[in-house]
Amino acid sequence: MVKTHSRPVGHLPRHGRGPASLRAARADCTTGGVGRPRRLGESLVVHARRNIRPEGLARIRGSCTTPAARRIRRRSRRRAPRRGRGMGTNRCISTIRLRRISTRGGRRIVKSDEFYDQLSSDYASFNGVSRHYLAAVDRAATHHIDGAKSWLDIGTGDGLRAASLLDALRSRPQEVTLCDSSAGMVAAAKRNLPQERVTQWGMTKQTPFPPGQTFAVITLLGNVLGHVHPKEFRLEQLAAIRPLLADNGTLLLDFNNRWNTRAYGMRRAGTNILRDLIRRPHSTFTATKCINGESISTPVYLGSPREYRLLLSKAGFHIHNVTYHHYTTGEHANPLTGQGLIQATKKEKS
Ligand SMILES: C[S@@+](CC[C@H](N)C(=O)[O-])C[C@H]1O[C@@H](n2cnc3c(N)ncnc32)[C@H](O)[C@@H]1O
Repeated sequence: MVKTHSRPVGHLPRHGRGPASLRAARADCTTGGVGRPRRLGESLVVHARRNIRPEGLARIRGSCTTPAARRIRRRSRRRAPRRGRGMGTNRCISTIRLRRISTRGGRRIVKSDEFYDQLSSDYASFNGVSRHYLAAVDRAATHHIDGAKSWLDIGTGDGLRAASLLDALRSRPQEVTLCDSSAGMVAAAKRNLPQERVTQWGMTKQTPFPPGQTFAVITLLGNVLGHVHPKEFRLEQLAAIRPLLADNGTLLLDFNNRWNTRAYGMRRAGTNILRDLIRRPHSTFTATKCINGESISTPVYLGSPREYRLLLSKAGFHIHNVTYHHYTTGEHANPLTGQGLIQATKKEKS
């Protein structure tokens, strides 16, 4: 997807480096986890700035034709032999550094809203998340939305996913509201679903809803919270959703799990787990996309099961169920092999 989601890395078969994947990666200017070209249809984006495989990055960057991109390519080529096929530098972009909008190595690092504004005109073509994974999460979402009284989809993007969820329902909620913090995405969702209520809202305390309005189901699909930085904002924004959830209503959100060895590779996910154990977590990565020859990146938070449990609890939610799904096949997985899908309700006020 946009670099919204992180891509499988360790899982990728060797043929993933073949010409088809290279073309796909070039089309996307996308790297997943290590800057390695992905298979066609696996154009994900998130890559850790640490852990970039220089040779993959150089090939991908080869698709960018701006002078800045050519400079990066030359630099990457010079570095490639030195680093060989191993991991790149071990530097992680800190959240603080990412908060600044800057140009580094020809890539502009922008906040989520600008990133998605730029992708909004053709978001569908950027979304490289496996359809099997999407189908698995959507099956769970449909189960909750079907027959519910009301549904609020937060971070709806261009609305096409919400449209396909609505299509799959036997009984549509009486009230459906879609919202997103990106003005571009809101405009796209309004174009794609002119009959639905679409609102620009970024989970701030000031909601666009009448006081007292609640929803039976609230969804945040596609690692939406991964675009909220820093972690205090994630807590604030989740807490802002709480009053909107009906008593006994369901909150459903999926997250990119940095412990996922199948998606990010044994070494990288293993390092993430070890770093979590010694309380020096690395959780912010960048998602990069090439749009009209310009490479833009945005920070993406990859959470851990533990962090999400804590976050939801602090925000006043009770987790009923967490399932994990393989990021390529959508099959059931575990905390070390899949992305997380959380079903929660409001905690009772004590
Ligand atoms: C990866 S896209 C997912 C889009 C859609 N839900 C899907 O699964 O195809 C993440 C979306 O979350 C939106 N987003 C990011 N931060 C947000 C926030 N604080 N409030 C609402 N939407 C947000 C982005 O603008 C983007 O459209």
